[in-house]
Amino acid sequence: MSNIVLIGFMGTGKTAVGRTLARRLGRVFIDTDEEIEKSAGITIREIFRRYGQEYFRSLEKEVVNKVSSFDNLVIATGGGVVLEPANVTALKSNGIMILLRCSPEVILKRVDAAGSRPLLAGAKDLKGRIKELLSQREAAYARAADFEVVVEGEDLEAVAVRIIELLKERE
Ligand code: S3P
Repeated sequence: MSNIVLIGFMGTGKTAVGRTLARRLGRVFIDTDEEIEKSAGITIREIFRRYGQEYFRSLEKEVVNKVSSFDNLVIATGGGVVLEPANVTALKSNGIMILLRCSPEVILKRVDAAGSRPLLAGAKDLKGRIKELLSQREAAYARAADFEVVVEGEDLEAVAVRIIELLKERE
C-alpha cells in the first residue's frame, strides 16, 4: 500500500496527527526530522547552528530518499521538505500527499518561541516571519498536495479520522 505522507508548515501538527493516524491504521510511523536527528546524532537545532541550513537540507534529502523506498508507512515530514522538487518526486512516487493547513494565528500558538525551530528562532516579529515563510512556500505546498485538510483548533483524533475518510473515498 502507498505511504501516507503529511506535509505542511511548522506547527500544523504533522507529527502528532501522523502518530495518531499510524496507530489507527496499524501502520509504522516515521518522522523525517527524527530520522535526521538519529542519523546525525544531534538535534536539528544543533545541525543548523553548527553546519547551516544547506547541510540540513542534504540530510533531509537522504532521509526522504530512504523512507520513500518503503511502503505502507505514515510519514511526517519537516515543513521545508517541499522546497526540494526531488523530495516531492520521491515521496509522491509511492505516497499520497496530505497537506495540513492552519492559519498563521494557530501556528503562532503552536510553535514555541524557545527556538527549537531554527527558521523561526530569534524573529522579532514571529507572526510576520510565519506569514512571510508561508507565502514563500504556499505554491510548493499546493503543488505537492493530493489532499488538503484544515486543522484549525480540532483535536488530533478528529483530524486523523477525517484523513482516513478521505482516503477511503479515494479508493
Ligand atoms: C523546517 C521545519 C522543521 C524542521 C526544520 C526546518 C522548515 O520541521 O524540519 O527546522 O523548513 O519549515 P517541522 O515542520 O516539523 O517543525
